[in-house]
Amino acid sequence: MQLGLTGKVALISGGTSGIGLAIAQMLATEGCKVAICGRDKARLDRAVAAVKSAEAKGFVADVCKPADIAALVDNVTKACGGIDIVVSNAGTHLPGRLDEITSEALQRHFQTKVLGAWELARRVVPVMKQRGGGRIIVVIGQAGKVPQANAIASTVINAAQHAFVKSLSDELAPHGILVNAVCPSRIRSPLTESLTLHNEVYYGRSLEQQESKWGAEVPLGHWGTPEDIAKAVAFLASDRAAFIVGANIDVDGGHQRSIF
Ligand SMILES: NC(=O)c1ccc[n+]([C@@H]2O[C@H](COP(=O)([O-])OP(=O)(O)OC[C@H]3O[C@@H](n4cnc5c(N)ncnc54)[C@H](OP(=O)(O)O)[C@@H]3O)[C@@H](O)[C@H]2O)c1
Repeated sequence: MQLGLTGKVALISGGTSGIGLAIAQMLATEGCKVAICGRDKARLDRAVAAVKSAEAKGFVADVCKPADIAALVDNVTKACGGIDIVVSNAGTHLPGRLDEITSEALQRHFQTKVLGAWELARRVVPVMKQRGGGRIIVVIGQAGKVPQANAIASTVINAAQHAFVKSLSDELAPHGILVNAVCPSRIRSPLTESLTLHNEVYYGRSLEQQESKWGAEVPLGHWGTPEDIAKAVAFLASDRAAFIVGANIDVDGGHQRSIF
């Protein structure tokens, strides 16, 4: 699809695997100069090679660390000549109930998904304002709208991300910076492959039972792919989404049982 993104600079946090890597590949196919970040240099180098674009660049950064994010935005701006699109995707899922989650794990999860997205936006907004606008897209996750006992941390943290997206979209729309969210669920990735195993143990089901149950819970009857998320992100990054602000797009085969 030609979305008019040729020459745009896109920074994707957490671009070394799964959804983030698929977003980087799709935006590169659409003609963007792509910059990705991750915490491990070797994983990052492999991911940059997998993007298959001569203009793709990798930057080591831990989004839990504000200093890393400041350096990331500076370095990408210098290397690519600016930033037009930011996809805040870095993160994971923190399974477990109240007593099973340590305060350290909870803090790290909060720092990654909420403070990480916050700091990235704070640092990139001046760059986008100088360019007369931009797009910020936050990858959230179903738990923020569909709370689950076995996912209390992700429920609270994802709900905070929804509030962040909506508030920030109000603040930045007058500057031509459009902020939106994409909510994945049941997307096959390294993250969900490890979760399936966790839930198998947690619920006492076999891996096959767990896999078929999760697939059957999706109205379309099967898991999605990281590319399904990447297509929604590419649309939100493009002029075709020029009047979409503060919205969330569920990409889940119909899985999320929420009407808002
Ligand atoms: N897959 C789903 O169905 C699903 C459902 C709900 C929500 N999500 C959300 O979608 C996003 C992507 O998930 P995924 O399924 O693609 O998982 P994944 O394959 O595990 O990818 C996670 C990415 O985040 C990066 N990352 C994690 N912590 C980071 C940190 N502190 N600093 C920088 N990078 C960090 C990882 O890079 P390194 O490890 O190389 O640093 C990796 O590139 C996550 O935010 C996740 O919560 C996914």
